[in-house]
Amino acid sequence: MTLQQTLSIMKPDATRRNLTGKINAKIEDAGLRIIAQKRLCLSKEQAQKFYAVHAERSFFNDLCEYMISGPVVVQVLEGEDAVAKYREVMGATNPANAAEGTIRKEFAESIEANSVHGSDSEENAANEIAFFFSQIEIVG
Ligand code: CMP
Repeated sequence: MTLQQTLSIMKPDATRRNLTGKINAKIEDAGLRIIAQKRLCLSKEQAQKFYAVHAERSFFNDLCEYMISGPVVVQVLEGEDAVAKYREVMGATNPANAAEGTIRKEFAESIEANSVHGSDSEENAANEIAFFFSQIEIVG
């Protein structure tokens, strides 16, 4: 077990439906600590840069448009094995495949409007955290 940090994004479908508190409760109930958090509106350029790894995918343009359709809440989560733990708490990308009790099972509207993003590896977590936060904003 190692203490890790991961990046979480509450997406526009979650902020629009006033679900940020309910999602934070799931995060904290799972033992993850929210050590940085801010609400912002992504620019098109920021969304494209953040999701650049998906640039060749058919859903890329729709995904970027969706991510700028309303505010998001970006967070740094810390805990034992935080990257894998948060992926468990989120559930599968497609809510139709998400396990009972997960954020996406309870709240996601579709595979695109799936309420939350979480980093998929420790290396990507470090890059994604640096994309949104400076060290002075992260208070463990
Ligand atoms: P996320 O974990 O943020 O990573 C990429 C996002 O693309 C994903 O969640 C979904 O919101 C979105 N997406 C839309 N369509 C698909 C798809 N067919 N497969 C995977 N991700 C998709």
